Amino acid sequence: MDSRVLDAFVSRATAIVHARLQPADCVLALAPLMLDLVDRAAAFLDPRHFRADPDHYARHLVHAEPDDSLSLYALVWSPGQWTPVHDHGSWGVVGVLEGVLEERSYVRISCDREADDGIQLARGGVVLLRQGAVTGFVPDPDHIHVTGVPAQRTRAVSLHLYGRAMDSYNTYDVGAGTRRRVLVEHS
Ligand SMILES: [Fe+2]
Repeated sequence: MDSRVLDAFVSRATAIVHARLQPADCVLALAPLMLDLVDRAAAFLDPRHFRADPDHYARHLVHAEPDDSLSLYALVWSPGQWTPVHDHGSWGVVGVLEGVLEERSYVRISCDREADDGIQLARGGVVLLRQGAVTGFVPDPDHIHVTGVPAQRTRAVSLHLYGRAMDSYNTYDVGAGTRRRVLVEHS
């Protein structure tokens, strides 16, 4: 494993994050770096980053800044594995290493962003991200979505960069109109 590619990426990404840009400017600056990182991921990922989990999609921590300003994960999606409906409370930049990652979005119709109940979500569009594709999002308004791989497709592997340590996020019960914070595990 050659860590120079990852070190260079983290160095440039950290400088962008510490410049305290608006989240939208942050993802604009980081998306091209992710595009390059996806092409060079073989240099710094090793077999453990590609390990699947039969019970749910697998999250492998690749890098976390000590000040919690940045975290990078490799996610492995076996066919039929999905996240819950969630938001991140952070900007994020995602790049696809293998397969097709599917993202289905939701739009919050109810106005009170602080409320944990009485939440009305409408189903939004879908994005199919092939190997090499990069997408980015910002937290305001909440970027609410489901990500995964339908059962009839092959597995996907993706890199996910966030503007904080992503150890918890909001999940939504669409039918009940509720939101709650849950811990998210990683290896
Ligand atoms: Fe997400």
